Amino acid sequence: MRIGVPKEIKVHEYRVGLTPSSVREATAHGNAVIVERGAGAGIGMTDGQYAAAGATLAASAAEVFAAADLIVKVKEPQPQERQLLRPGQVLFTYLHLAPDPEQTRDLVASGAVCIAYETVTSAAGGLPLLAPMSEVAGRMSVQVGAYFLEKAHGGLGILLGGVPGVDPAKVVVLGGGVVGTHDRNPEALNRLWAQFGRPLNTVFSTRDAVERHVAGADLVIGGVLIPGAAAPKLVSAELVRRMKPGAVVVDVAIDQGGCFETSRPTTHTDPTYVVDGVVHYCVTNMPGDVPRTSTLALNNATMPFVLALADRGWQHALLEDPHLRNGLNVCNGHVTCQPVAEAVGRQYVDPLTLLH
Ligand SMILES: NC(=O)c1ccc[n+]([C@@H]2O[C@H](COP(=O)([O-])OP(=O)(O)OC[C@H]3O[C@@H](n4cnc5c(N)ncnc54)[C@H](O)[C@@H]3O)[C@@H](O)[C@H]2O)c1
Repeated sequence: MRIGVPKEIKVHEYRVGLTPSSVREATAHGNAVIVERGAGAGIGMTDGQYAAAGATLAASAAEVFAAADLIVKVKEPQPQERQLLRPGQVLFTYLHLAPDPEQTRDLVASGAVCIAYETVTSAAGGLPLLAPMSEVAGRMSVQVGAYFLEKAHGGLGILLGGVPGVDPAKVVVLGGGVVGTHDRNPEALNRLWAQFGRPLNTVFSTRDAVERHVAGADLVIGGVLIPGAAAPKLVSAELVRRMKPGAVVVDVAIDQGGCFETSRPTTHTDPTYVVDGVVHYCVTNMPGDVPRTSTLALNNATMPFVLALADRGWQHALLEDPHLRNGLNVCNGHVTCQPVAEAVGRQYVDPLTLLH
């Protein structure tokens, strides 16, 4: 199979779909890999390293899309990339379609086979291709929260960890999964309690609990997820009005639409805005700013699936692996992920009816 790796073009997105090591692995399996020149620059990988790993270099994204049967990317295709997709071509990347009806419309119109990293599942019940980036974003959320709590950056002027004799910041984390610890799943709360014990309070997430804890918080981190669906709005605009001026909100769940009513997507170029005195950080591609760590972690997780798609062909790979099949969001002009179909108001089609 011909695998294509274009350079990422989202604002300040420096990750890349495949590292040279992954290219070497794919070519050793008998696949051809076409990489856009400069695609690995953000992680310090040169065109020469890609060529040495067996890739053919292409001058433009258009050339990559035209040559490849399978496109491996990181972020959702931007409008100009969507125009390059063709019927039957396989796209393997993060999509986050639930809050993005325009992208869904374009992918449906393209006729391509679009597999979203974030809805691929594992036998253990997790999301193996989302988890590595949530590990990165979860750690970053505390770093950026600490940064924006500083006075010069618009915050309350509180040192996140405090000092002996002075309290640390009060941090509330909504969602006790990989990013976060204020959950509605008792098993998640038990796991966190066992892991952290006393320094961490876990709270069953109810409207009352959210109001009580968020109103008095210095930093609130949003990390809830209902796989494939738009994020539930746990914090209303009215509750944000009751927060302290200078408090900070880091809405990691913004890629699924965000869990604060006041959230709207931002970029690494202009990451924050203020609503009712509360600093909002809502960057949709947080791991893109630590691309070396993120690309390696992502490739560790995606490579077995890339090889399955390339070696077996998408139809066989999806028929044989129900977990990879859960990643199929759009196929041959149909929406094949139920929560996405519900969120964007389109008809759901069972993927099995499209696989032969
Ligand atoms: N902004 C970024 O750059 C970035 C990067 C990585 C991940 N993310 C996003 O972060 C979010 C969280 O990812 P994750 O891997 O931690 O997910 P996860 O599935 O591991 O955890 C989500 C948790 O939210 C809980 N939850 C769902 N609804 C809830 C509610 N109403 N109240 C309280 N808890 C609720 C679930 O029980 C689950 O434990 C996702 O939207 C993901 O896409 C964003």
